[in-house]
Amino acid sequence: MARTGFAVIGPGRLGLHLTSRMIERGWTAVALRGRRPLRAEQRRLLPATVVFDTWDEPTAWATPDLVVIAVPDPEIQRVATLAADRLDLGGRVVLHTSGLHPAEQLEACRRAGASVASWHPLQTFPPPELRTVEWNGVAVAVEGDQRAHEAGLELARDLGGEPWTIDPSCKPTYHAAAAVAANLPHVLIAVARDLMASCGGPEEGPGRGLEPLVLASVRSALSAAGMEALTGALARRDRAAVDAHLAALPAEVAAVYRAVAELLETRHLR
Ligand SMILES: NC(=O)c1ccc[n+]([C@@H]2O[C@H](COP(=O)([O-])OP(=O)(O)OC[C@H]3O[C@@H](n4cnc5c(N)ncnc54)[C@H](OP(=O)(O)O)[C@@H]3O)[C@@H](O)[C@H]2O)c1
Repeated sequence: MARTGFAVIGPGRLGLHLTSRMIERGWTAVALRGRRPLRAEQRRLLPATVVFDTWDEPTAWATPDLVVIAVPDPEIQRVATLAADRLDLGGRVVLHTSGLHPAEQLEACRRAGASVASWHPLQTFPPPELRTVEWNGVAVAVEGDQRAHEAGLELARDLGGEPWTIDPSCKPTYHAAAAVAANLPHVLIAVARDLMASCGGPEEGPGRGLEPLVLASVRSALSAAGMEALTGALARRDRAAVDAHLAALPAEVAAVYRAVAELLETRHLR
């Protein structure tokens, strides 16, 4: 698919980052449709020529060749039905951006004549007014109808990503893996930062002094084949130290620590 016009439904975290990146790469943003008008700080991120509207107060625009639905997962099917009713989807490509759900969620668009696919970038997209994100090297999982699938692969490549084709039946496991790798550590780092603060840990720099340790261990984990690069009491199987940690932690944090220690044992036993 050439760099055509596109519309994004769902101008949220991913929708806005994606729109900015596509514009940067030479695509033409025709319209963004949301549930309510954009906030001023969001509006400022995009060219004045882009139409912003809502389902309740739609502006007339011709449906471009590519429509990306970037709404929260529980809304996808409802928005697909709305899009099928209100836009001219015949011959268009429609993508949704959920890592969990398959292209089938866009069945209403398919019935309206579109070719549909799911298109999921394995990256974290914070509110775009906070910071930009890296697209280069981001893995993008794509599956769906042949034409939309091919368009999704091309779009990912064009943005600097590394597309791959996922079996739709694997999407729940794939998405769970992403959550285990990114969301669980996020929560645990926030908890550890509070514990460091309770010990008077350094106030300067991110993470109360945790940054060098956390970044080095994440890098080690990512480049390791298994658990060979793990350090600390768990890796040394130092039971006395682990017991001291468990005794020092709040009960709910100790429960997580214990669960991870048990998980590690099952991996050592393989
Ligand atoms: N953020 C990430 O890191 C990330 C990464 C990969 C994939 N994704 C996927 O991207 C999708 C969106 O996630 P997100 O994090 O960008 O969510 P988000 O920040 O909550 O943005 C969702 C946007 O959709 C709008 N919306 C909700 N219902 C709508 C409707 N009926 N019609 C039009 N717009 C509607 C929301 O409007 P309101 O503000 O009015 O609610 C909001 O602007 C999800 O499928 C998610 O799995 C997200």
